[in-house]
Amino acid sequence: MNENDINKRKLDHLKIPIEFDVQHSENYFKYIKLMHHSLPEVNFEDIDLTTKFFNKQISAPICIAAITGGHEISKEINRILATAAESEKIIMGVGSQRAGLEDLSTENSFKVVREVAPNIPLIGNIGIGQISEKNFNIENFNKCIDMIKADVMAIHFNALHELVQDKGNISYSLFRSNFQKIREKIKIPIIAKEVGTGISQGMASILENLGFNGFDVGGFGGTSFAAIESKRKNFINEKYSRDPAELFKDWGIPTPVSVINVRKVSNKNIIATGGLRTGADVAKSIAIGADIGGFAYNFLLTAWKDYQNKTNINTINEIKTIKRELRSCLWLMNLKNINELKNNINKRIILGKLYKWLNQ
Ligand SMILES: Cc1cc2nc3c(=O)[nH]c(=O)nc-3n(C[C@H](O)[C@H](O)[C@H](O)COP(=O)(O)O)c2cc1C
Repeated sequence: MNENDINKRKLDHLKIPIEFDVQHSENYFKYIKLMHHSLPEVNFEDIDLTTKFFNKQISAPICIAAITGGHEISKEINRILATAAESEKIIMGVGSQRAGLEDLSTENSFKVVREVAPNIPLIGNIGIGQISEKNFNIENFNKCIDMIKADVMAIHFNALHELVQDKGNISYSLFRSNFQKIREKIKIPIIAKEVGTGISQGMASILENLGFNGFDVGGFGGTSFAAIESKRKNFINEKYSRDPAELFKDWGIPTPVSVINVRKVSNKNIIATGGLRTGADVAKSIAIGADIGGFAYNFLLTAWKDYQNKTNINTINEIKTIKRELRSCLWLMNLKNINELKNNINKRIILGKLYKWLNQ
């Protein structure tokens, strides 16, 4: 794929979820209920949402998940997101840094994030496709870290997405050996990140044994990359009679299933992304075992609005809203802090299809 292809793809990925409905057909967070407490005696404003992500203190367990980079517009979107994340002291991840490696002129669309957000935890991002390349060079991994002075790196596992896009990279046989080289040299934490199809319990064990320090489960229930590719209609292959992206747009493990099952085998950091839409979804994620709730779709919408209005007020308001919703949940459960909610089986009820999925 050449640089223009990557640029065009980046822009499509930004615009399609805004212009079309490319969300998975069901969101499993509706099958989690939090336990109500009729006499909240904790003081609403005294509830402590602060937590740590690896070694850095943050104001609430919220992350702006990987969205973009590699394009002039991405630079402005990243500036908006990072400025908001810094002022609200939450975590931010950048989109795949492949573009920044392949076309140095796009590096600034990533660098801008650390320039405007000197203090918060930043997560770098690169795909299994790049790690699996025959001419993989560990220097490129280092460059990604340096580009944003990343506190943590995420390697995204996006097999379905690669499968249903034109010229996708679907050969990962060198992943393990190349990752081993990374693990021997790179000291900062590395997390395994899915992008909408979820991480299974077995996969979490394998990845932890390989040396990953945490997970972003990126499960089913939110943005569907297959649905995005289906809208791009770039898979013009005369050999087949059906669009593979359309067939697989609902493929994947629901986010809550992934969080619960990964937590069964790992005590490492878990970020829940995939279909979180409110602060109540963050509370639910934490009650079932996650440490952090991450959002891509919500912040894509607010940052796009901010980009058009040359502000960042919508993004900041969205963070404040998520925080207040999370605080409200804790108050209605009479909990003083995030720790009291964490993986607390007495504070959550699991219903319907989610219960069935977990009890097969
Ligand atoms: C426009 C867009 C671009 C994305 N780009 C990346 C990416 O480059 N790397 C990555 O790991 N995840 C990427 N993601 C996946 C998100 O980080 C997240 O895991 C997923 O969208 C599910 O969250 P959501 O339902 O809140 O959108 C992207 C998501 C969106 C919407």
